Amino acid sequence: MMSKVGILGLGIYLPSRRLTNFDLEKIADTTDEWIRTRTGIVERRIASPSERTSDLAIKAGQSALKDAKISGDKIDLIIVATISPDSNFPSMACRVQKAIGAAKAAAFDVSAACSGYLYAITTAKQYIQTGLYKNALIIAAERITNLIDWKDRSTCVLFGDGAGACVLGKVKTGGIKSEVLQSCGAQGDLMHVVPGTVRRPLETDGDGIIKLPYIVMHGKELFKAAVNSMAEAVQAALKKANLKTSQIDCIVPHQANDRIISAVAFKLKIPKEKIFVNINKYGNMSAASIAVALYEAVKSKRIRKGDHVVLVAFGAGLVSAANVIKW
Ligand code: UT7
Repeated sequence: MMSKVGILGLGIYLPSRRLTNFDLEKIADTTDEWIRTRTGIVERRIASPSERTSDLAIKAGQSALKDAKISGDKIDLIIVATISPDSNFPSMACRVQKAIGAAKAAAFDVSAACSGYLYAITTAKQYIQTGLYKNALIIAAERITNLIDWKDRSTCVLFGDGAGACVLGKVKTGGIKSEVLQSCGAQGDLMHVVPGTVRRPLETDGDGIIKLPYIVMHGKELFKAAVNSMAEAVQAALKKANLKTSQIDCIVPHQANDRIISAVAFKLKIPKEKIFVNINKYGNMSAASIAVALYEAVKSKRIRKGDHVVLVAFGAGLVSAANVIKW
């Protein structure tokens, strides 16, 4: 019998600065009405100029350790999912390792865009099941607004910064029942980062133009791919777990657009009430979206012991992923 692996604790960290749709109206050619009706977003968090991705990651990681009642020195594997690291190296995971005092931990980052948290959880699960590691700290942290041109209304209204984390270890009951990881590199150009100059009025006076890479996105095509691949991933993960859609108690999806979430619910014939949505407060935080949403769903008791939970993600790559967890 393979060991059961489950979530022992959850944590989050969200920067305190809120940027509302009305604030954005003053920066870009957009309106609160357009953003709310087309995406469901009302506000998002923006990291302060001195906050790095690793700072967000460390705080979320510490919060998950506290929740799991486990000290950093008991962690032997750290994986950070991010596409907005402080720098190419050292890895965010190594920065976390130092901060939490996990002296003997293996530490590395995973780059799978908005699906990164689920890719990281699935990777760690294999190591714990084989017995190579015992307690893993999985963090999704993004300072993704670093990659935004604040005058490009097709992207600047969508994203926010934040981090979420969990501690994974062996459990006696419940745990991760199945996992599905998918990719489609052929559609990679639908969302990518290009070198160039961006307009950053938030960080500079006036229309400050800075040389920085930024996100370019083909929204409509991504929308369709997101709906299809998230629905497919949920169905495949349920099949592996030998469950029917009617047995799902809560779905925690990637929060890219509330209309995408509604379309996935429709496709799966699942009532929208079974899907946890918090995009209104944070926008799209890439890998961190599901991590923060799962934390909030559990802490608000939308997810209770014994529930069947599905996590499902979609993002640049293209990559998609799903996990079924018995809580
Ligand atoms: O994280 C995972 C990857 N990302 C995604 O999965 C995102 C998927 N895509 C989407 O969520 C949506 O496609 C968007 C929210 C990005 C765009 O929504 P849409 O309903 O597909 O709008 P659109 O791009 O077709 O634009 C409709 C109109 C256009 O004007 P015209 O050509 O009809 O005159 C746009 O120029 O809305 C205009 N528009 C805006 N207007 C006000 C686009 N962005 C804005 C804006 N404010 N921020």
